[in-house]
Amino acid sequence: MIQLFHVYKSYGRHRAALEDITLRIEKGEFAWLTGPSGAGKSTLLKLLFGLEQPDAGQIVIQNRNVARLKESSLPQLRRSIGFIFQDFKLLQKKTVFDNVAVALQIAGASPTEIRRRVTEVLGSVGLDHKKEMLPSMLSAGEQQRVCVARSIVNHPMILLADEPTGNLDADLTTEIIELLKTINTKGTTMLVATHNREIVSRVPRRVIVLKEGRIAEGGG
Ligand SMILES: Nc1ncnc2c1ncn2[C@@H]1O[C@H](COP(=O)(O)OP(=O)(O)O)[C@@H](O)[C@H]1O
Ligand SMILES: [Mg+2]
Repeated sequence: MIQLFHVYKSYGRHRAALEDITLRIEKGEFAWLTGPSGAGKSTLLKLLFGLEQPDAGQIVIQNRNVARLKESSLPQLRRSIGFIFQDFKLLQKKTVFDNVAVALQIAGASPTEIRRRVTEVLGSVGLDHKKEMLPSMLSAGEQQRVCVARSIVNHPMILLADEPTGNLDADLTTEIIELLKTINTKGTTMLVATHNREIVSRVPRRVIVLKEGRIAEGGG
C-alpha cells in the first residue's frame, strides 16, 4: 500500500529532516508515527501527500512511484489520500456543509451526489445537525470532526493525520481517536502522527518511532 525506500529529505542547508527511511505499511493497517517534536513526522506525511519532494529514494503508493510526480499528477494522488491537519484549515467563510463538499465539487460530482455524500459523512461524525453553521460557531472538537469528515468524504484508501488531537483536551482526543479507529475498521489504511506517547499507549497498534530523522523503532 505505502512503501518508502531509502528516502532522504532536507530543507535547504539545514540538517536532514529525514534520513534513509525505509518503511512498508500494509493495506488496512493502523500505524502510529511518533517521536519528539522536530523528528520528521510532518515531513514524512507531506512526502506521502506530495506536499514535499524527497531529495533521494523512492516512495510507492498503491503501486505508483510518487517520489517525483509531475504537478499535474498530484490531484490524482490526492484523490486516494485523505489528510487531517492539526490546525483545522477549515474555510472560515463557508458552512460546515460547504467545507466538506469542496473536494467533491472539485472532483466534479453532481449536486445530488454531493448532498448525499456530505450528509452521510456528516452523520457518521455526528454533525449532520450543524451543517449550515460556520466553523467559528463550533467547538474545537466539532471543528476537528468536520476536518475528519472532509478528509474521508472521497472514501480515500489512505488517511494521513498530522497531530489530529494536538489542539484538543483529553475527552475530545478520545473522541477523535475513536473516530479514526472506526474509519480504519472500515478498511482505510491509517498513519497518524503524534508526539503524544500517552494516546499511542492507549490504542495498541503498530508504532513507528522517528528520532532525528531516522527510524528508531517499528520500521521495516
Ligand atoms: N519548511 C521547512 N523549512 C526548514 N526546515 C523545516 C521545514 N519544515 C520542517 N523543517 C525542519 O525539519 C525537521 C523535521 O520537522 P518536522 O517534519 O516538522 O518534524 P515533526 O513533525 O516531527 O515535529 C525539523 O528540524 C524542522 O525544523
Ligand atoms: Mg509535526
